[in-house]
Amino acid sequence: ILERIMKNFLSTCVLSAAGLFLSACATQPKEEPIDSVIERGLKTATDQALLMAKELENQDGKLPKSMKDGKLEVSDYSWWCSGFFPGELWYLYEANPTPELKKYAELYTERLEKVKKITYSHDVGFMLNCSYGNGYRLTGNPKYKDVMIEGAHSLATRYNPHIGLIRSWDFNKQKWQYPVIIDNMMNLEFLMWAGRATGDNALTQMAISHADKTMANHFRPDYSCYHVVSYDTITAQPHIKQTHQGYADESAWARGQAWALYGYTMMYREAKKQAYLEQANHIAQFLMNHPNMPADKIPYWDFDCPDIPNTVRDASAAAIMASALIELSQFNPNDFGKQCLTFAEQQIRSLTSLAYLATTGTNANFAIMHCTGHLPGNSEVDVPLSYADYYYVEALLRLRNVLNKQ
Ligand code: GLY
Repeated sequence: ILERIMKNFLSTCVLSAAGLFLSACATQPKEEPIDSVIERGLKTATDQALLMAKELENQDGKLPKSMKDGKLEVSDYSWWCSGFFPGELWYLYEANPTPELKKYAELYTERLEKVKKITYSHDVGFMLNCSYGNGYRLTGNPKYKDVMIEGAHSLATRYNPHIGLIRSWDFNKQKWQYPVIIDNMMNLEFLMWAGRATGDNALTQMAISHADKTMANHFRPDYSCYHVVSYDTITAQPHIKQTHQGYADESAWARGQAWALYGYTMMYREAKKQAYLEQANHIAQFLMNHPNMPADKIPYWDFDCPDIPNTVRDASAAAIMASALIELSQFNPNDFGKQCLTFAEQQIRSLTSLAYLATTGTNANFAIMHCTGHLPGNSEVDVPLSYADYYYVEALLRLRNVLNKQ
């Protein structure tokens, strides 16, 4: 009898374990293959960008910026974000080279021609490199090259050789003698290109000096960074370190950290200085291991905002970070590189989920929702932003290229 009881007991155990296993298999949704995530993201981004392109086609000089009161907000060429929509169209054209995407990429790129004369802002690199830069890379159009070279010389007028940095802003002169913001690292890609395209090594050296001095003065010991560092024009040393768009002077404003990560990863690609790779790796570690990084890997707008988790996200920071991490993963052929790639893949899965990716025809025809431009200025809070879409599409293409190589 005892033997029969034991047998029954054992077979019940085996059956229950098998049942549990089967029901776990049945209830656990299978993860969508990453290739399918990428194609779905590119499809939505293309559908949205074409709707946007048609909407603004006959509005002379207009470019998408964000969404305000539920409606599309536009700018002209002079807003720092003017190059992102044409740049996104070029990336989408690269992924799917249709005549329609090319027509719109050209139309919106050429709305920026006057940027080549701008000397009042450092953002010329963002504006021209994303638009004309991608257009030139994909078509070799010599007119695009001419605009870029003139624009790079306009940007170079903002470099002060005594300080060794490009001046970011001209406002607040009573407070900041020579303000440099971390975002300015992103303009260096344009100067590095111009240095190669013209053979003018002075342009290359400006970019390298800017990256070196930013590395020395913008970062804290934990590799988080300040938003604004202002330099004393006589001593050429920092006299103020503070924030403008973040929570506090000593906080880690999410997009600023993402610009820093992208900036040093890109400068390592461009200049091959080992110190830039080490800097990018340290920044990546700070971000990936941050205790306030949410489970879906889409940062809150500032890592030190005391309202976390009851505050808004900045999906643009996630898109910039994902794109940078994919590139950084390729410079680290080791476990750390794999960790960067896995992290970026998680960010792309989140951005391509219903929580952040708009359904076609909504979100004022931008792809990505829940970005924050300037919360302390009560501007662009929890909205779409053209640069989130640009870096999201860039990240999708980078991930697709990396996976195709594997
Ligand atoms: N470069 C300005 C910003 O990131 O908001």
